[in-house]
Formats: sequence, structure tokens, C-alpha cells
Amino acid sequence: MSDSFMADWVYTDTVKDHFMNPRNIWKKDENWTPDAFGEVGSLACGDQMKIGIKVKDNKITDIRWLTYGCASAIASTSMMSEMVKNMTLKEAYNITPEMITDALGGLPQHKFHCSVLGDKALRVAIDSYLKEKGLPNPYKEKTAVIICECRGVTDQQIEELVKTDKAKTIDELQELTGFGTGCGKCKSKVNELFEEFRHIYGKS
Ligand code: FES
Repeated sequence: MSDSFMADWVYTDTVKDHFMNPRNIWKKDENWTPDAFGEVGSLACGDQMKIGIKVKDNKITDIRWLTYGCASAIASTSMMSEMVKNMTLKEAYNITPEMITDALGGLPQHKFHCSVLGDKALRVAIDSYLKEKGLPNPYKEKTAVIICECRGVTDQQIEELVKTDKAKTIDELQELTGFGTGCGKCKSKVNELFEEFRHIYGKS
């Protein structure tokens, strides 16, 4: 890669470093077996993310990831994989794209959405770990955010309905949850989330 190309790049040095030298990549020949893994996105829409975790004493002791995403997705997931090592499951579950982006020193605005797959896949991996071990999952409810105040619809409800194909269209989502049928101020936010989750779960 030429020096002028790198100099013109709009990414921070930290982003460049994690993109050029990604940490904790899941190499096929490594013979690394996770305690659980999570997968989101689809190749059809260009982004796919798989994350494996090892857990001991309620802490993430090791992590690997694979993605077919862009430079921002690679750098974000690499950074996240370093951040969550030795975190408790609760801390790791609550990591947000904003925290990862901050640690990278920022991402261009139009690239922010590329950073959302890693933490989603991580949460799927933690959900899967707790389920396989027959342990309660106290984290899901705690991170739910109410999007439609009039009908009490949360982001997690929307996510679940999209993920399980129960709401394939925005009309189906409205029928199932009643969002937007009160004051109506939540409509654009729900639409935005609906499209985001469809993208994340490879439905669009
Ligand atoms: S906030 Fe959703 S209808 Fe009022």
C-alpha cells in the first residue's frame, strides 16, 4: 500500500492499526474450540460476523472472530475483542458500538453502522453460552430500551420479532406491538431500528 494512500485515509491511527493487524482472528488451522459462538448478518448484504468465546468463572477468558465486513467492521471487532477479554459476562454484554468507536478514536459518521455487528454477535454468543449451561440470563431485560412509550415496545422486542421472522414487514411489526398507535412520535425511530435489525440478521 502506498504512503500517499495511507496518508489520505480518513481513519485514525488506531483504526488503521487494528485494520492492518487485527487481533484475535479465528484462524481455521488454529484448532480453537469456543465454549459458545454467535453469528449475525449475512453474506447477501455484504456483512457477516461470527464470534466465539471461552468463559471461566463468569468472565470472558478468550475470544475469536471472523467477518466479511469492511475495514471499519474489522477494526471495530478487533478493538472489541481486546476490550472484552477478562470482562465479566455482564460487562461484555453491555459493551456498545459507541464505546468501541470511542476506543478507536472515532469512525467516519457514514461508517458507524459497520461497527454494530460485533457487539450484537457477542451478545448472541453470551446468550448461547448461558442457554447451553442452563444458566439464567439476567442481562437481556436489563439492556432493553423502551422505544414506543405509549405501547411499551422495547428495542429487544423489535429485535426478537425481526430475528424470528415474526415481523417481516413494518406493518406486521405494528400489528404485533401496536407501536405508533398512540402519539406517533416513535414511528421514525422504530422504522430505523426495524431496518437496522433486518440488515443485521440478514433479512434484507
Ligand atoms: S411513543 Fe409510540 S405511539 Fe407514542
